[in-house]
Amino acid sequence: MDLLDKIKAPVAAEMEQFNDAFRKTLYSKNPLLEKAVELLLKAPGKQLRPILVMLAARMVGKVDDKVINVALALEMLHTASLVHDDVVDESDRRRGLPSLNAFLSNQTAVLAGDFILSKALECAALTEDVRVVRYIAQLGQSLADGELLQLDSQDSERFSEAAYFDIISRKTASLFSVCARLGTLAAGGSEAEAERLSQFGKLIGLCFQLRDDVFDYGTAEVGKPLGNDMKEGKLTLPAIYAVKYGEDAQMRELAMKVRRREASFEEIQQLIDFTISKGGLEYAAWHMKDMRGMADGLIDDTRDPAITEALHLLASFVAERVF
Ligand code: IPE
Ligand code: IPE
Ligand code: MG
Ligand code: MG
Repeated sequence: MDLLDKIKAPVAAEMEQFNDAFRKTLYSKNPLLEKAVELLLKAPGKQLRPILVMLAARMVGKVDDKVINVALALEMLHTASLVHDDVVDESDRRRGLPSLNAFLSNQTAVLAGDFILSKALECAALTEDVRVVRYIAQLGQSLADGELLQLDSQDSERFSEAAYFDIISRKTASLFSVCARLGTLAAGGSEAEAERLSQFGKLIGLCFQLRDDVFDYGTAEVGKPLGNDMKEGKLTLPAIYAVKYGEDAQMRELAMKVRRREASFEEIQQLIDFTISKGGLEYAAWHMKDMRGMADGLIDDTRDPAITEALHLLASFVAERVF
């Protein structure tokens, strides 16, 4: 059994229920939408966010229809954000298959993304809990906010670790954090319990995006194109660190060029090599280890051992995953 199966094991029955509802919710008679949904359902992804919702819920109570609707809303929001992200990033592969924009068109992907996003809001409304609706609505804003900041920073000359962490906190960690918070609240947990687990979600979300950004420097098969970040003018933590501490004026100049999207393929490779030689990847790994340790410390180990073990495994998965 691989690590992801072990994490899922205590909530396997709940995830089956979730998947059934996910398929039904996305069902549509519109022919183009049907095609889009068919592609999305072919490769459902790792489903880390609904798994986190279920684990948080089980930590304090049971998974009922309300928790399922929370998980649906959050995975729908995630799915819509990926569909739109691939248009923004001009990316042609997702989950080992063509991205929706590549398979159909940019227009279809934008509209299908809108449809899925609205489904997310409907699922949130079905919980009849205004807190859920508010968190989901704010999350949609946070994701767009993070993606826009990232886009904007591509044109500006400034980049820093603080700006990087701010962006990944808005575009990725916020989602994990809300999964943990709403899973807890929907199952009847207290605000204090929800707050603590949402901190756990935030830390593993940051770790998750850092790991994702580290992938981009390598050659491992992860089902989506690699080496894309610098092509898009995006500098992530390893390169930000190397440029800052590498004390190499030429590389600093080159980093600016990358951000203006003016660097050639060879120049990008040069900056990647420089980043690796200056220990940028180790620096990111150090951050991940640190955040993972903090996340572990937030798990209340007096609870159901099957659930707490799965949460500890989830924290290790996001930092060490190979896909
Ligand atoms: C991809 O998320 C987007 C990032 C935040 C890096 P996942 O890697 O969780 O996507 P799927 O749903 O498993 O494909
Ligand atoms: C993550 O951004 C996607 C969102 C949070 C919307 P990336 O652009 O870094 O993710 P991938 O690499 O396309 O999955
Ligand atoms: Mg992106
Ligand atoms: Mg992308």
